[in-house]
Amino acid sequence: MTSIKLPPTEIIYEEIGYLKEFINKEARQKKSLLICSLHLLESFCIKEDVMRIEKLGEIYWLNRPLGYTDIKHIKKAINEMGNFIPEQIIAIGGGSAIDLAKVLSIFLTYPFKNLVENEEIRQCIKTKAYSTQKATLPVIAIPTTAGTGAELTKWSTVWDEEEKKKYSVEMELIYPKKAIIIPELMCQLSKRLTLSTTLDAFAHALEAYWSRATHPIIRNMALKSMEIIMMYLEMTLIDLENIEYRRKLCTASVLAGLAFSQTRTTASHSISYPLTLNHGVEHGFAVAMTLSSIYELNRGSFEEEEELERLFTQYGGLKSWLNSVAKKELKLSYWGISREMINDIAKESIAKGRMDNNPINLGVDDVNKLLIALL
Ligand SMILES: [Fe+2]
Repeated sequence: MTSIKLPPTEIIYEEIGYLKEFINKEARQKKSLLICSLHLLESFCIKEDVMRIEKLGEIYWLNRPLGYTDIKHIKKAINEMGNFIPEQIIAIGGGSAIDLAKVLSIFLTYPFKNLVENEEIRQCIKTKAYSTQKATLPVIAIPTTAGTGAELTKWSTVWDEEEKKKYSVEMELIYPKKAIIIPELMCQLSKRLTLSTTLDAFAHALEAYWSRATHPIIRNMALKSMEIIMMYLEMTLIDLENIEYRRKLCTASVLAGLAFSQTRTTASHSISYPLTLNHGVEHGFAVAMTLSSIYELNRGSFEEEEELERLFTQYGGLKSWLNSVAKKELKLSYWGISREMINDIAKESIAKGRMDNNPINLGVDDVNKLLIALL
């Protein structure tokens, strides 16, 4: 039997003018923690509104920390807020801002709010002690990149730079309550960020398609997502402010997010983690660089493969399409990775729940070979 259950998140499409209205109305209905970078507040012309409402004590603005969400950001955020007790969390930003909101929705509620040291938070995450939590703060996610799908998943990726590890904090209660999709927000993305985040969405769709937990409905959503990305990504990279293209890529990202929120990812994401954590490869490129090799290995081992092949053939094959949008970033040497480093990367590439979700079993030797070909 195959069954499917979609995220409980309300998905709302809006236009750019809504953001100001949201900050002045909905954000004020409850005491809100707002996670957003100064740069985005200024770009979207809401800085003055946020500052005014913050003075009234209705919002606490947390300037989003740079880079991926790390264990150390959790306690730092709680300390910074002092006596402000939020009733909801609003995240405006990319996947890391939304991931921080989701993990704070747990750690800003008792008993976990009492944890004082980073080590206590680390242990709580490692042992999944947080899963006993009965309630979390509601999260409203307003993504500004179309790719990570963080607005539609029940997990939050938390990195641990100190211990060189990556954790997935997971529970039903951290599904965002609302995902507000405003395609105009994506027009400010650079070419490189547009490319890397869209490739991440593409990987979510493709990995959901062949995942061991796939489903006919999931495959249809994933296929549509990939179709849109293959058709519109290149055009968007040439015309970054084209709102029609941005709308298409937003929908592709939502479809990919819905798909992989139910299946999780597979081998490409599994291999990407040491590439990002130890070698600084941007997530979207880290996942995309192994997609075509893993597709070749997986062929013959997943359902409805012909439909996927039909789509890829229109673009001369998956490898050819990937190379047409991002040739240099998909090579390990571009990121300073040499032959001597590959053994260690391969050893750390077997992530539980990801690699064993791939339709065929892949071990360290397989990853080794695959990475050597990507030098
Ligand atoms: Fe991803």
